[in-house]
Amino acid sequence: MVGAGSAALVALLILNAVAFMRGLESPWLLGSVIVADMVVIGVGVLIAAREVLVAGDRVEATQAHLEAIVDSAMDAIITVDVSQKIVLFNRAAEQVFQCRRDEAIGSALDRFIPQRFRGAHRGHIEHFGKTGVTSRRMGDVTTLWALRAGGQEFPIEASISQAGEAGEHFYTVILRDITIRRQREDELKRREQELRDLSARVLEAREEEKTLIARELHDELGQLLTALKMDVSWLRERVVADAELSKKAVEMNAMLDETVSATRRISANLRPLMLDDLGLADAAAWLVEEFGKRSSIRCTYKEFGDGALDNVSKPVATTMYRALQESLTNIGRHSAAKNAWVMLGVEGNMVSLEVEDDGRGISPEDIAKARSLGLKGMRERITYLGGSFEVGRAARGGTRVHVKVPPGAAAVHA
Ligand SMILES: Nc1ncnc2c1ncn2[C@@H]1O[C@H](COP(=O)(O)OP(=O)(O)O)[C@@H](O)[C@H]1O
Ligand SMILES: [Mg+2]
Repeated sequence: MVGAGSAALVALLILNAVAFMRGLESPWLLGSVIVADMVVIGVGVLIAAREVLVAGDRVEATQAHLEAIVDSAMDAIITVDVSQKIVLFNRAAEQVFQCRRDEAIGSALDRFIPQRFRGAHRGHIEHFGKTGVTSRRMGDVTTLWALRAGGQEFPIEASISQAGEAGEHFYTVILRDITIRRQREDELKRREQELRDLSARVLEAREEEKTLIARELHDELGQLLTALKMDVSWLRERVVADAELSKKAVEMNAMLDETVSATRRISANLRPLMLDDLGLADAAAWLVEEFGKRSSIRCTYKEFGDGALDNVSKPVATTMYRALQESLTNIGRHSAAKNAWVMLGVEGNMVSLEVEDDGRGISPEDIAKARSLGLKGMRERITYLGGSFEVGRAARGGTRVHVKVPPGAAAVHA
């Protein structure tokens, strides 16, 4: 088809040339060539006109398609010109701002921005225009607020883009109403805080109970056992003549001694009363010493920042003590270490405790073990008191736990 057309055109060109050369010598040839030229030009004009019409239809179809996409978007889409007058307002925008499209188009974007942000917002858009960046997220750090037609403010998440078209400049804002998400987030945060408070309260109550039992064991049972010991001594003195009775009394005395030390041990494990009576530093030193005695691990205890440990609040002392206890228990159970180092003191304005070993080390998987609650409980208590908690591989290859807590932290948040 195209080949035939081209051949016909070439033929017509040749005929034109011949007719031109012959000129008025062959008027019939000239006449027919002119007629043929007119016909060709006419057909050409018709084809061109048809093309223009088809292209126009295509542009219209594309436009309609784009509009349908914009209208079906879940997010509100608003386009403004350089004077920030609205030129496009999709269906989602109608719903979000509770404003009909024909009311919105042509009006200033300001009507959808709370009064107090208008000046700044206008400035932001103008600045964005100057940057030449094609698109970016709006309000990266702060929450953005928008205004419904009815005057109600609501939080949004938005991005802005810009483009030039036929010498004009447009800005398009795509935004989403995040009221519900914000409510859920706030609710989640509130619940999280409640759970934190609850867990802190449970731990505190447990600590109080342990202290109570430790005191009863130490004071009540301790006194009774001492009285019993005195009685047995009294008996022993009176049965020296009878070898069998005497032997029994000696055995009873030895058993009583064991009972006394067992009671002391149980009481101290529940809660070392010296933590309340003598303070954190002495209780920690005692704990490390006891651990060294009971295990084959060589323990080094160091204290730094003279006397500054005397002023720690009771919840901080208990938390630090329990962190040390758990860390030592972990070394005994999991590390296979030969040495352990404990450093307790004041660093800057924080109470600091470092427990390190030269054992097999710890992996992130170990720390995340679902059923292991020792380290997680430690982290929970410490962050609750506004402190920091780190656990990981030590420079020497073993495990290092580093805890820092403000010395005056109180147990339950206001
Ligand atoms: N000092 C340590 N050396 C090596 N591994 C450790 C050490 N402390 C803890 N771990 C690892 O981390 C895991 C989690 O510890 P923890 O939360 O105290 O729970 P649990 O002691 O009950 O297992 C342990 O099971 C162990 O695998
Ligand atoms: Mg443990």
